[in-house]
Amino acid sequence: MDDAGIAEAAALIRAGELIAFATETVYGLGADATNPTAVARIFAAKGRPTFNPLISHVQNMAGVRAIAETDERAEMLAERFWPGPLTLVLPKRTDSGIAGLTTAGLSSIAVRIPARDATREFLRACGVPIAAPSANRSNSVSTTLAVHVQASLPSPSNGGPAMILDGGPCEVGLESTVLDLTGKRATLLRPGGIAKEDLEAILGRLTIAGSNDSAPRSPGMMSRHYAPAAPLRMNVLSPRPDEVFLGFGDVSLPGAPNLSPTGNLVEAAANLFEMLNTLDTPRTAGIAVAPIPKTGLGHAINDRLSRATHS
Ligand code: TXA
Ligand code: MG
Repeated sequence: MDDAGIAEAAALIRAGELIAFATETVYGLGADATNPTAVARIFAAKGRPTFNPLISHVQNMAGVRAIAETDERAEMLAERFWPGPLTLVLPKRTDSGIAGLTTAGLSSIAVRIPARDATREFLRACGVPIAAPSANRSNSVSTTLAVHVQASLPSPSNGGPAMILDGGPCEVGLESTVLDLTGKRATLLRPGGIAKEDLEAILGRLTIAGSNDSAPRSPGMMSRHYAPAAPLRMNVLSPRPDEVFLGFGDVSLPGAPNLSPTGNLVEAAANLFEMLNTLDTPRTAGIAVAPIPKTGLGHAINDRLSRATHS
């Protein structure tokens, strides 16, 4: 991670490419968090069958405050544990500029300031928040060495990261602790690099996710996942008169939005949350969605849509 490598990687990020980079916890697979197409490529590269919300990595507190609403608890924890292996889930600012896909359509956002100087130098050079899950294929273990990243993810020509910023072995070797501060009670969503006891020394007793019915069971499978208020139907070829239509490929209506007129699933993933949000007004009686093929990112798109029909 020398200056030239960082400058090259940052230019690739701004061009919408993926970059794997070392942090103190594990390697991240990063993209411009404000660019939905770039973020869609993360899910394609990982082969993830679902859209989990991603952590937005920023360089400093100004970067945090530009995308999230911080309260007194967040400011206290930031003072004590950032930069470092703590991720805070906070209300997302309405003017954050963050892509809907980065937060999987949620009104909250996970943010983290990584510990290493070189990682923050990369984030500064990018000039945008970096959405990054751990740099490994879906259902594989997180990676703590550049060679493991390379072995786990596709090559650049097959949708993998354009570059790996090799920072040697990750010293924490365990993902960040994820703490949800969107509710009155702070909730531990994922144990990690910062011990629960150290957080409790500042906040008092934490709620542990999954320990009671009011807390989300598993961060990736939260019941609070985005769902439109209007009823949604999938695999529709022609909508009922009272429904609004969301097309895909050739299954389209004049004047109605189309997830991807050319049938490109990366483009469809990039458009999914923004288009659903636009269609989901209080006047909407129902949303009908064209069939989405069950290949590549189509799995994750169908997963998200089917959860929206059942909630
Ligand atoms: O150490 C780390 O956290 C690494 C490095 C690269 O920073 N990143 C990482 O990302 O482990 P990932 O995507 O593998 O895990 C992020 C976790 C997931 O459990 C996800 O569900 C949760 O954070 N998360 C993200 N946004 C959330 C949100 N808005 N609400 C609740 N949970 C969220
Ligand atoms: Mg992971």
